[in-house]
Amino acid sequence: MFATMGALGLAPTAAAAAGREAPFRAPRPGDFHLTHKAAAKVVILGGGIAGLTTAYELGKAGYDCTVLEAQNRTGGRNFTVRGGTSTTDLYGHQQTARFSDGQYMNAGPARIAQWMLTLDYCRELGVPIEVFTNENADAYLYNEKSGMTAPVRYRTAKADVYGYVSELLAKASNQGALDQDLTADDKERLITFLKGYGDLGSTLDYTGSERRGYSVVPGAAGTPGVEYGGPPTASEVFATGVGRYFSFEFGYDQAMLMFQPVGGMDRIPHALTGAIGSRVIRTGCVVTGVTDKAHGVTVTYTQDGRARAIDADYCVAAMPPNLMAKVPHNLGSDVQSALLAITPSSSGKIGLEYRSRWWELDHGIYGGITETDLDVTHIWHPSYGFHGKRGVIIGYYNTGSNADSYAPLSPKDRETRAVAAGVKIYGDKYRSELATSFSQHWRQFPYQEAAWHSTPGGPDAPRYNSLNDPTGHVYFAGDWLTYMDAWQHGAFASARKTVTALHTRVLA
Ligand code: ALA
Repeated sequence: MFATMGALGLAPTAAAAAGREAPFRAPRPGDFHLTHKAAAKVVILGGGIAGLTTAYELGKAGYDCTVLEAQNRTGGRNFTVRGGTSTTDLYGHQQTARFSDGQYMNAGPARIAQWMLTLDYCRELGVPIEVFTNENADAYLYNEKSGMTAPVRYRTAKADVYGYVSELLAKASNQGALDQDLTADDKERLITFLKGYGDLGSTLDYTGSERRGYSVVPGAAGTPGVEYGGPPTASEVFATGVGRYFSFEFGYDQAMLMFQPVGGMDRIPHALTGAIGSRVIRTGCVVTGVTDKAHGVTVTYTQDGRARAIDADYCVAAMPPNLMAKVPHNLGSDVQSALLAITPSSSGKIGLEYRSRWWELDHGIYGGITETDLDVTHIWHPSYGFHGKRGVIIGYYNTGSNADSYAPLSPKDRETRAVAAGVKIYGDKYRSELATSFSQHWRQFPYQEAAWHSTPGGPDAPRYNSLNDPTGHVYFAGDWLTYMDAWQHGAFASARKTVTALHTRVLA
């Protein structure tokens, strides 16, 4: 019983004593036997990952939950577009995807790191996963603004940048430039490392490397392969700016391996929705007011244009903060100013379905990301359907002003502009093999109006106390209240925190 109370935050735990976050313990029906309390009625605003997880975890202990979701589907930004998916954005652009069977694009989240709670939920819910290739030595880098006239393979760029950086550091060290920082032994070990890291010769010069790649790949006897040949000068390599992309994979959240659900990211909300039960979830419900009362909360909303209301013991607001700020409420000015402090960010994606997988056939690229300084920014090769007939390339995944510059265009014009950029890198098939496209801009999308959010000062800044703690009977949850905003991990973590706080209060 003591351990159970500890897990609920009612008694100290070993994890808390060691300064670690206590492991999450889902509410259980048995918890009420110990305390002679009863499960409460909870209304949850928003059927995205945070809202669904709140209902899922509270539901395990028998809470009477109702999820109000404005759209006609659950998942929020976890949105997989398949043939037949229709959207209308805030400009009035209507699209119906015409992707073929088995083809899809994850318009929102699309990659999962190994340490993320998202994988724990995939395991628990029985959602199969597969590798998502976040980095590929054979994908391209292309910086037009730096004067590049042709793309370079990641591996080639890495060989040259690592080679020259190693050469310069090794020579500087040898010439005594680092004598204040390094002992003779340190220098010897550093140079041994740099020779391997940069593939340097005995004179510590970088003169190219088979790491750059081959124009004819090595084969049988008589075919040793033809290397790409000597590198450009160090000055030319640095001028291209290709090295700026290499640190991406160092990020704790972006390092390979990464994963995706088989068949589309929306397998996660689909499984959550199934586990919660359709009785709990009301779609097409737009929240119009939240009133905290002495003994509960009333939420008003419209469903298919008709005004409705629901009373509950508690409310968990798991809506985007930018939209929650527009809902009339009586939660006070601290809540309102905290919601307004959290600002929405832009991002867009276009899925380009091709009649052939020419990037595999002609370029030998299987998954991974081509990085550019064009307005399309990132181009993703699909990490599913290898060697199939067709495939969907993400022709742009861009953010900020790049995303906002595409958003007002008609879907056809977005496609034309994205394809023109891709042709510069991949050649004519980027246009001639195109079958259909679908584009999504989150800042201009109803009931979201943000791809993700900026929470200035971080989620523990005092100005967000009124969101981290309940106001009356109203709690908040969302990735935007975590250190992992713009990740489903954040939504899961926030929902768990809110569930634990609410359940602890109900039991107290
Ligand atoms: N988490 C988002 C991404 O991986 C922003 O691109």
